Amino acid sequence: MTTYTIDVNGAARTVDVDEDMPLLWVLRDLLDLKGSKFGCGVGLCGACTVHLDGEAVRSCQMPIAAVGSAAVVTIEGIGESAVGKRVQAAWLEVDVPQCGYCQAGQIMQAAALLRKTPKPGNAEIDTAMTGNICRCGTYDRIRRAIQRAAGRR
Ligand code: FES
Ligand code: FES
Repeated sequence: MTTYTIDVNGAARTVDVDEDMPLLWVLRDLLDLKGSKFGCGVGLCGACTVHLDGEAVRSCQMPIAAVGSAAVVTIEGIGESAVGKRVQAAWLEVDVPQCGYCQAGQIMQAAALLRKTPKPGNAEIDTAMTGNICRCGTYDRIRRAIQRAAGRR
């Protein structure tokens, strides 16, 4: 066991864990932040997506030891940023979710895209979102919500 202090949604959080424990486990099981979901556990579905210094990362594949001093933002904290707030509002307006399981990851991926590319075209959206799987097939509404958050619709 090692003691790690990480920055999560703007607060310093200290945990005692094995160095290879995935960040997703730390967030969900130790910090009670259950918005990030476990889907595949092998980096293939995007349900566990969080931000590390603004970049979208798969927290199921990120050992706690690799987080260091990077700022971790989860779905619970994304509404604190202007872009995150716009994405959340667009998601509600377009009524994107069906079962909802994938949606925290979708929102985190979309917010990371819009931070880098404020006015993405459909091809850029599809490329950025391709690793986020939705078994309910809400892809069209996801794309519309991203365009809306970008001010295009
Ligand atoms: S649970 Fe992390 S990518 Fe699927
Ligand atoms: S809304 Fe059900 S998996 Fe995406």
